[in-house]
Amino acid sequence: MTRLINNEDGSDLMVSDAAGQIALPAPTLAPVAVPEVGTGKPARHGKSRWPARLDLLQSATGLFLALFLMAHMFFVSSILISHDAFYYVARFFEGEFFLGKPYPILVSGVVALILTIFVAHAWLAMRKFPAGYRQYRAFVAHKNNLRHGDTSLWWLQIWTGFALFFMATIHLYDMLTQPALIGPYESADRVWTGNMWPLYLMLLLAAELHASIGLYRLAIKWGWFDSAKPNLSRRRLRWAKHGISAFYITLGLVTLAAYVDLGRAHVDKAGERYVPTHLSAPAATGKH
Ligand code: HEM
Repeated sequence: MTRLINNEDGSDLMVSDAAGQIALPAPTLAPVAVPEVGTGKPARHGKSRWPARLDLLQSATGLFLALFLMAHMFFVSSILISHDAFYYVARFFEGEFFLGKPYPILVSGVVALILTIFVAHAWLAMRKFPAGYRQYRAFVAHKNNLRHGDTSLWWLQIWTGFALFFMATIHLYDMLTQPALIGPYESADRVWTGNMWPLYLMLLLAAELHASIGLYRLAIKWGWFDSAKPNLSRRRLRWAKHGISAFYITLGLVTLAAYVDLGRAHVDKAGERYVPTHLSAPAATGKH
């Protein structure tokens, strides 16, 4: 039988220290021999590198998606500059300025790539979800006992990630199948007349919280911006995280309000395509 307690004097008694703590040494387990099935090679003692690889992949896909989301928010918020600004951003991604005319299929291609990375990231993240009700209860009890900010953040990330499964997929499917319908009127009509604004509102909150917590946790995990004073650098990272959340949520809300405003104003002509000023101006001024 394996002895769980190996005291130096050979006794099985547990001994407490001056503070009354009982030290329980971890049992020494022999490394597990993994036979190489069907290769004829001898069994090897090994720890699989796959958990580490999957972890790295999860970090890399998360970082990519968070950076994409930040850039995406700037492109979408170009509506705040002018209708034309957003119109040209949309045509740019359709390749009009390099290829001579717009190819909406290019947008679908980018969406397909983002969707693939999104699904891969969600699949990798699922490994960390509590499996079953028992694990869930155990984690909640642990979190409430511990009352540590980072553990609560992780919990929030699990829930926002779960919500993103559904909400981001709806939006991405829309963009994948209607790439040509991106423009000031087209987007505003989708937001207001197409009733997408409640989804966008929830998606905005979930995505921005999830991404900023994700970036914070990445920085802690991989030791980015580490300094000689770990507590100080953690506090700084926390402030950066709050700042990023606040900035992108505010920008997203103001942008969403602009689409809602335009959609409401355009409700009677919903479905009409936007024509940029340089093409519509001659008609408006009477010049032909
Ligand atoms: C290549 C992929 C994507 C494209 C082409 C795209 C495009 C757009 C466009 C054109 C809008 C303006 C509204 C509309 O036209 O319906 C929009 C809004 C929005 N998108 Fe995306 N999107 C993409 C991916 C994502 C992802 C992955 C997320 C989050 C996980 C996201 C979150 C949002 C949110 C929250 C809004 C509302 C805007 C706001 O509140 O300011 N998008 N997107």
